[in-house]
Amino acid sequence: MSLFFKVIYFVLLFTNFAVSTTAAWKNLTLSNYKLKQTGYSSTIANLDKALPNVKLATIMENLNHDNPGTAPKVKNLLASSGYGWKDSSNFNDQDTEKWYPQGISTSADAFDSEKYEGYSVQLISWHSDHYDDGKRGARISFVKQGSGRKKKYRHVLLVRPKGDEDFEAIKGLHAGGIVWYGNLLYVVDTTSGLRVFDLNHIYSVDESIKNKAGKSRNKYARSYDWQKKSGVTNMRFSFISLDRTTTPDSLIIGEYHAERTNCRLLRFDADYKTRLLKTSSGIATASQAVQHGNTKIQGATSINGKFFLTQSGGSLITHTWKDRQKKTTGVFPKVPEDLSYEKDVGLWTLMEQPGYRHVFAIDSSKF
Ligand SMILES: *[C@@H]1O[C@H](CO)[C@@H](O)[C@H](O)[C@H]1NC(C)=O
Repeated sequence: MSLFFKVIYFVLLFTNFAVSTTAAWKNLTLSNYKLKQTGYSSTIANLDKALPNVKLATIMENLNHDNPGTAPKVKNLLASSGYGWKDSSNFNDQDTEKWYPQGISTSADAFDSEKYEGYSVQLISWHSDHYDDGKRGARISFVKQGSGRKKKYRHVLLVRPKGDEDFEAIKGLHAGGIVWYGNLLYVVDTTSGLRVFDLNHIYSVDESIKNKAGKSRNKYARSYDWQKKSGVTNMRFSFISLDRTTTPDSLIIGEYHAERTNCRLLRFDADYKTRLLKTSSGIATASQAVQHGNTKIQGATSINGKFFLTQSGGSLITHTWKDRQKKTTGVFPKVPEDLSYEKDVGLWTLMEQPGYRHVFAIDSSKF
């Protein structure tokens, strides 16, 4: 005779905690948020004469490192989207503490066709704040998206004009976020505003010429300078993304702060023909300015009117005026950074920590 025990199971289902919080989102006065557009640097024409000017294809044909496929432990990860960096005895981007990956944008930001000169490419910015006193400036990895999981990359240094015929790395450029829009690359410069680089002016220079940080150098052409206003806390330009889901196209810019609870997100409308911000008398004024009450935000974008924010502790925060703020904890095992949305694919982001550097996409519709 057998005995049957009735066993009661206590089932603890671990799920994503989506907590509706009452974080104070509010609209701010748009006229307090202005950027001044500078003219196009005239030095560039001189450099074009002096240096070999290369197209994206030249970089694509001269990629020099492999990106291994990876599988980070991320909630709602898009299968097979993850990749990392070269990690070998003589070259290690996965663990280096000299360079830290920060910003992301893709050829799907650059053009609606999702390709740039026929290539599907992702750009990742890195800062060198802890290396040579930041003198090395910022670099961009051009990552070619091959078929399947085969990806390869090459670093390109960001430089600015110096004198009439020279250029230099941009000391202290944190490059916390980037947007690739047409031939232009928008890079945030924390306290100053936006720096705009032009992919029509990429130079291939000899290693021996200058800072031995990369072969090709991408020229900073123009800038959008933050306009201070009394009574308004100076904006920090910590991250940036492109919103192609509403018309006109626009840039979403936000600030990181560890303690301040008055951090803001700004939207600036862009002109898809010139690839520049919409301006009036050289001034771009925000078309949306909101304060959101969260600290330690690392990246943000807006998809069909819904904001998505990454946060240091590994959370993903969403907001619409109708559904308010929702915070999903434990989405990322480490610190997530800048965001870039690719229609038909998902929401791209990356993690910066040495030894845990992954680039990957999540399914934004699940948040
Ligand atoms: C903030 O502005 C948006 C338009 O950009 C509007 O839809 C929303 O209702 C406003 N929110 C509040 C709380 O006033």
